[in-house]
Amino acid sequence: MNEQYKGLRTHFLGELRKGDSGSEVTLMGWVAKRRDHGGLIFVDLRDRYGVTQIVFHPQMTDEGFAVAEKLSAEDVLKIVGTVDERPEGTVNSDLDTGEIEVNAKSIELLNESETPPFEIRENVEASEDLRLEYRYLDLRRKKMRDAIITRHKFYQSVRKFMSDKGFIEIETPILTKSTPEGARDFLVPSRLSKGKFYALPQSPQIYKQILMVSGFDKYFQIVKAFRDEDLRADRQPEHTQVDIEMSFVDESHVRQMAEELMATVFKEVIDHDLPLPFPAMTYDEAMKRFGSDKPDLRFGVEIRNVSEIAGRSDFNLFQDAVNNEGIVGAVVAEAKGTFSRKVIDELVEFSKIYGLGGLSWAKVEDGKLAGGVSRHFDENLQSELLGNVGAKDGDVIFLAADKTPVALKGLGAIRLEIGRRLNLIDKDTFSPLWVTDFPMFEWDEEAKRYSAMHHPFTSPKMEDIDLLDSDPSKVYARAYDMVFNGSELGGGSIRIHSKDVQSKVFKAIGIGADEAERKFGYLLKALSYGAPPHGGIALGLDRIVTMLLRLDSIRDVIAFPKTASGTALMEKAPSEVSEAQLKELGIKLEPK
Ligand code: AMO
Repeated sequence: MNEQYKGLRTHFLGELRKGDSGSEVTLMGWVAKRRDHGGLIFVDLRDRYGVTQIVFHPQMTDEGFAVAEKLSAEDVLKIVGTVDERPEGTVNSDLDTGEIEVNAKSIELLNESETPPFEIRENVEASEDLRLEYRYLDLRRKKMRDAIITRHKFYQSVRKFMSDKGFIEIETPILTKSTPEGARDFLVPSRLSKGKFYALPQSPQIYKQILMVSGFDKYFQIVKAFRDEDLRADRQPEHTQVDIEMSFVDESHVRQMAEELMATVFKEVIDHDLPLPFPAMTYDEAMKRFGSDKPDLRFGVEIRNVSEIAGRSDFNLFQDAVNNEGIVGAVVAEAKGTFSRKVIDELVEFSKIYGLGGLSWAKVEDGKLAGGVSRHFDENLQSELLGNVGAKDGDVIFLAADKTPVALKGLGAIRLEIGRRLNLIDKDTFSPLWVTDFPMFEWDEEAKRYSAMHHPFTSPKMEDIDLLDSDPSKVYARAYDMVFNGSELGGGSIRIHSKDVQSKVFKAIGIGADEAERKFGYLLKALSYGAPPHGGIALGLDRIVTMLLRLDSIRDVIAFPKTASGTALMEKAPSEVSEAQLKELGIKLEPK
């Protein structure tokens, strides 16, 4: 029948060219624009493929012309007409179909549209909330459509690469038992087992490991993961992962595969060459130099540890930090004299969000420190500091004195803010890297216990196994993150395949034998039936597509995203349910 499934149409609206002149066509689509011009009516008709200009002449038929006169934006039309070359001077080089127009012979109004709450054009003026409420209209915009189509190309590229390399796509359950990834679970009450709940998976982590026990050797899945956590521009309560697991591998194999996958996808989807291999940096080095476990390497401004010099100043704050196992760290803004006192005060204020008790500063003028903390440094110490941090006239030095991790993280945030304010970040480049050798645990002050920094199924470094009992804070993990431009695009690890080591890790994070059995008994059992050494990674699909398209928010690459408060504005979810439904589930709500 119809080539490319055009249905009732002869052509799509981005298709007609000069060579089609003279032919009769049947077109369908939405009214993007209508203009009346000296007795003629021009309509830009839009569909997924493009826009075609339709011309209505008064002599077509009286009824037809009357319909055309009443058309409004987003009405749905069927047009039968003839393709004509556009008259000289009216060619529109911005449109693929800009050399032709279609002279309508007949028109049929297939469906009328209400006046849309916002005009459908590229620089839309509506608020994001309104766009989300009328998502179907927002998705008619080219930018949104292109993002969704790029996402589609991304899936195809991933599937082809993985399948070509022998990975098998396997679906894992959505109604599951809790799989912890550090967030809260979304729970689904069970009707058949009253009082019991399924958890939506925070990731398919345990299933993919069990598939390795089954001998599938290489698995992948493009899959939703659900996490009830605080949302940001790069976080959604349900996100999509390219989830991967491999048997009989070490870190190098997983990383090489993931790099090659990324390089292939970047080439196929946006024709960009990513140089391989990606550079790698340990977590400790990333924290020391950039104050972040996901450093943005598109610009410099590295952190310098100036504890030794600052400790000799007569500033109490610096001395206290150095004497109490903290540090004094510095970053230099090469501001060429442009950082006014107001800008500096804003940065000091900004640093408080990141928990820095205070941010000290000094300008550099005539080869000396000026203002801020400069009076606490004598002349010799000033030149030592300037030499150490490599600062010159016009620069501003920012100094943070605090417990080491707090100072480093705070300076990392200041570094990013300096990069933004001084326009140091080249938005056109991609700067990938691996961050490796993460600590296995972090201290959770609220719960007063350790928690797994990646997830509790990550293998500790073999040489650190004995420290699991004695000093968990010193244990490093066989974990790696893939970072692009300061954003974590993926994370993975070599897993624990020994039941005993797994039990020890549970113990280190305060999960005793009974609780481990209750929550993860099925994993421990599977591990005891010949689990191969294995490892893998999950890539954040929404984040990667956002990056490919250089957009700011992952909401722009998701057809139906949630707001920052986790609500769906179009369909209004979450919503209340009926008494009867609750009763069936054995649930009673507390009065509000
Ligand atoms: P992780 O928790 O690092 O690892 O998740 C993998 C990647 O998924 C993306 N991501 C998110 N994207 C949008 N919204 C969110 N709320 C969100 N949370 C995570 C990030 C992240 O790097 N099971 C492990 C993987 C493994 O060990 O193989 C896991 O889920 O880009």
